[in-house]
Amino acid sequence: TRVAVVGGGQNCEHEVSLASAAAVAAALDPATYEVVPLTIGRDGTWRDRGLRPIGLSGAAHVLHGCDVVFPVVHGPRGEDGALAALCELAGLPYVGSGIRTGALAMDKWATKLVAQDLGLAVAPGHLVTAATAEHERWTHPVVVKPVAAGSSKGVSLVRSGDALRPALDAALALDDRALVEDVVAGREIDVAVLRSADGTLVVAPALEIVADGLFDYDAKYGGHADFRLPARLDDVDAKALEQAALATYDALGCAGVARVDFFLTAEGPVLNEVNTMPGMTEHSQVPRMFAAAGLTYPALLDELVRGAHR
Ligand code: DAL
Ligand code: MG
Repeated sequence: TRVAVVGGGQNCEHEVSLASAAAVAAALDPATYEVVPLTIGRDGTWRDRGLRPIGLSGAAHVLHGCDVVFPVVHGPRGEDGALAALCELAGLPYVGSGIRTGALAMDKWATKLVAQDLGLAVAPGHLVTAATAEHERWTHPVVVKPVAAGSSKGVSLVRSGDALRPALDAALALDDRALVEDVVAGREIDVAVLRSADGTLVVAPALEIVADGLFDYDAKYGGHADFRLPARLDDVDAKALEQAALATYDALGCAGVARVDFFLTAEGPVLNEVNTMPGMTEHSQVPRMFAAAGLTYPALLDELVRGAHR
């Protein structure tokens, strides 16, 4: 089976996607899969295995020579449904969530509206755009983030009034909309949901991120991330997290694997965000969570490829 593994992408998570894609390409079992790597540059240039620019028509030719596409691009113009759309229009089977799901989950504001409609708790907050940012006033500590970005890029914890404007500018530099949210006092818990190739849903053991302050880009990728796996949870919290993750996966119409991120408060789980193409290096949360459930990284990738949309 020939698998096109697409990495890179035109957004602030470009390097993260390169790492995820390289790990996926290396871990797909060579006895079953022939990997055909493709890379999208920051400027949108598609490149082949030798990093030669081949353009979109060249990439389409390569993709049509493969049996399945594995898009491993985080963030906008990738995870947001853009690559799913390319595959749908070209009639190519692909791994992971479809167009609407990617677009909804990439939009943290839309995700919160869906979650609230499901009866799940979300951080109190509101939307700010370039047009409304000048009216924004600081009254208490908040988190400011782009509506659609990832890996904590453009995210600031704002503890004082004079830090608000720079935080809004940083978020609005990455997206034309930002969210201003109350700081949620809780443990940071990730829950991963996988639809196996046979259609059954599997929830991996929850993972706790042990971070001092914000789990920001440096903490995520500087090698200092501290995970507790499985997270220590009582039965009530464990059940609530699992049900909230499954309900979110189902309502958003996810496919493949999704990582649903929560804050666990004294009142229960608060949904933070959903990643439809979560970090996929062997040391990222999702592969580690499934490994803890007995599903090795190559076996997880095998489930994903065999479960591809057709
Ligand atoms: N957005 C990053 C890749 C993650 O969720 O893991
Ligand atoms: Mg994310």
